[in-house]
Amino acid sequence: MWTCLYLQVRGIHSSTRLLKKAPVRVKGKSGAEQRWITRQINDPFVKAAHLQHFRCRSAFKLLEIDDKYHLLKPGISVIDCGAAPGAWSQVAVQRVNSAGERPDSTRGHVFGVDLLHVVPLPGANFLSNRDITSPATHTELQKLLPEAYADVILSDMAPNATGHRELDHERLVYMCLSLLELAEKLLRPGGSLLCKYWDGALTHKLREGLSRAFQDVKTVKPNASRKESAEFYFLARTFRKTWI
Ligand SMILES: C[S@@+](CC[C@H](N)C(=O)[O-])C[C@H]1O[C@@H](n2cnc3c(N)ncnc32)[C@H](O)[C@@H]1O
Repeated sequence: MWTCLYLQVRGIHSSTRLLKKAPVRVKGKSGAEQRWITRQINDPFVKAAHLQHFRCRSAFKLLEIDDKYHLLKPGISVIDCGAAPGAWSQVAVQRVNSAGERPDSTRGHVFGVDLLHVVPLPGANFLSNRDITSPATHTELQKLLPEAYADVILSDMAPNATGHRELDHERLVYMCLSLLELAEKLLRPGGSLLCKYWDGALTHKLREGLSRAFQDVKTVKPNASRKESAEFYFLARTFRKTWI
């Protein structure tokens, strides 16, 4: 069903290109803000997210990646790092059946962590106002996770962008590298990690770090990720415990 919804979005995408709305003019907004509003209005993934009750368009990135690589299965435990506003957690809840909507399937668990407040979602356990890089958050998660382990760690985390591309890239790389510490404590051997990064000079450092801890690391760029953006994802599979 989700694959079907995703394909529908792709359908919307091609048709809206023909119906693209002219740039909007909103009084009191800067040029950059006007461009952002115009882009949102014309974005088929924004429209589809609204129609399908996702909290934001990023849901389609995870849907597409998961349709291809099948990370999320009923019954598994997932940690969603940088979960706010909660669209990836919505996808994870559906796919691991943590709200128990499919009584014939095993029930999984979704734990979302964010520096910000995350509005509650049935089937997800949100740790709002927490830093995922903090050992205190790791301990809290360890106590909550069944058997103290997660099967999948998702990270769509991003620092507040400064506008300096290289600086933002470096900050996100170090945030992603800190997820290796989280994995060492809480990821089951054989588990997977999906993390967003912005491409730049230190991308190779992140890939090397992930490759030491996981057997298989690949770069993924879903269609919902804007072509012009430096955003990519590393999908790291088959975690080797005690890789340090
Ligand atoms: C792009 S948003 C995530 C969107 C989310 N995947 C969704 O689908 O709704 C990035 C989030 O990362 C969070 N974040 C950044 N640094 C963090 C940290 N150290 N710990 C937890 N969350 C963090 C931000 O607060 C922000 O809400």
